[in-house]
Amino acid sequence: MTAADSTVADVLVDDERISLIGENLDVQADRVIDAAGKYVLPGCVDPHTHLDMPFGGTVTIDDVESGQTSAAFGGTTCHVDFVIQGKGQTFAQALDDWRAKAHGRQVIDMGYHMAVTDLEDGGTLEELAGLPGQGITSYKLFMAYKGALMVDDETLYRTMEVAAKTGALVMVHAENGDVIDVLVREALAAGHTEPLHHALTRPPEAEGEATNRAIQLAHLAGAPLYVVHVTCKQAVDPIAAAREKGWDVWGETCTQYFFNSLDDIAKPNFEGAKYVYSPPVRDKSNWDVLWNAVRTDALSAISTDHCAFLFDGQKTLGKDDFSKIPNGGPGLENRLQMIHEFGVRAGRISLNRMVELLATNPAKLFGLYPRKGTVAVGSDADLVVFDPEKKVTISAKTHHSKSDYNLFEGTAVTGSPEIVMLRGHILVENDDLVASPGVGRFVARARFGEELAPARVAVA
Ligand code: URP
Ligand code: ZN
Ligand code: ZN
Repeated sequence: MTAADSTVADVLVDDERISLIGENLDVQADRVIDAAGKYVLPGCVDPHTHLDMPFGGTVTIDDVESGQTSAAFGGTTCHVDFVIQGKGQTFAQALDDWRAKAHGRQVIDMGYHMAVTDLEDGGTLEELAGLPGQGITSYKLFMAYKGALMVDDETLYRTMEVAAKTGALVMVHAENGDVIDVLVREALAAGHTEPLHHALTRPPEAEGEATNRAIQLAHLAGAPLYVVHVTCKQAVDPIAAAREKGWDVWGETCTQYFFNSLDDIAKPNFEGAKYVYSPPVRDKSNWDVLWNAVRTDALSAISTDHCAFLFDGQKTLGKDDFSKIPNGGPGLENRLQMIHEFGVRAGRISLNRMVELLATNPAKLFGLYPRKGTVAVGSDADLVVFDPEKKVTISAKTHHSKSDYNLFEGTAVTGSPEIVMLRGHILVENDDLVASPGVGRFVARARFGEELAPARVAVA
């Protein structure tokens, strides 16, 4: 199964790569997996995760090992995580920190985006320009989180100018952080401390304005732009308009924005804190807007924005003040199950479009294709044997994230990965993790618009 077609065929894996695809192959193999009645999908690629990341006065609960284990069970075999440049840090120092967290713990393959937070006392434009040469081919900027990760328009624009020259893709968290800061202070002054006010102080207009600003600035700078975690019509519309004009603009949404809503964040007894992430849950009318956007390619990818915290002990930091609730939720494990159930089985998107949104487009946009993101001769043998009849009830009791809750708790799905393979190594089989940490590798990604050649296989 690929983004383009569905065929019945045998797939031969040799030296970590797919070496042959054809009907009734007559070859000797060490092991034969009978996938009759199943789908053989490319390993999914998640372009948006936060593992072991200091954020919101704490650190995300999933480290590289637990986060990637969770990903593997969900059929994701490669992800791109955000290195966050600390204030005053050079990019090299930030990269060293992130590599140390991953060393020896990798269960799946991974790349890094560089989140630029400081071009004054930390990294220089020259250093930033050198990152694509090291396989870090995307720069991320936060237009929100004032006083923490947020950058001003000068930093945003200068980074875009560098990207235009170096062939990096610019990614933005598009919300107007200055306006949100005012709204948050006004809400707290009026005595509104509950989780719901997280959503009410981050209105769709703040996302729409920042999205449009980023699009216009990227166009001016001549840089390609990818808007992360799009949630609402106010942001989809400017992306769709830019794409209709042929501008180099793409957008993603995340699993949770199709399923969670203001009803969740309004739950009593602080339960709503589980659904505090940014941009926030929206009015349910946006669910159809998003399904329509992924169908029409106004949005081209679905990620998880996995940024997991414990409810008990981390989310509770904001018990008396919603602005202190760490922003983020778990999701790495359930993207494929949820999009298959409510996208494909519900008739909203085709199976091939699902593959495109979860694997092929993220791989293409982030310089991993065709090594990752498809089932083709020469590609890495990152494969998912997906059983379309397997029934699963999603729950924190059985998921592999360290988080003590699941955003989709109790949801029954039909269809789940049965075997997950990374470069020919079985990672997951019969609901067990078979591989040991260390099997995953760092992938140096190609520049935007370029292809990543198949990996060179070591010859003994
Ligand atoms: O709430 C979220 N999304 N947390 C992760 C950081 C980000 O903004 O992507
Ligand atoms: Zn964000
Ligand atoms: Zn994120």
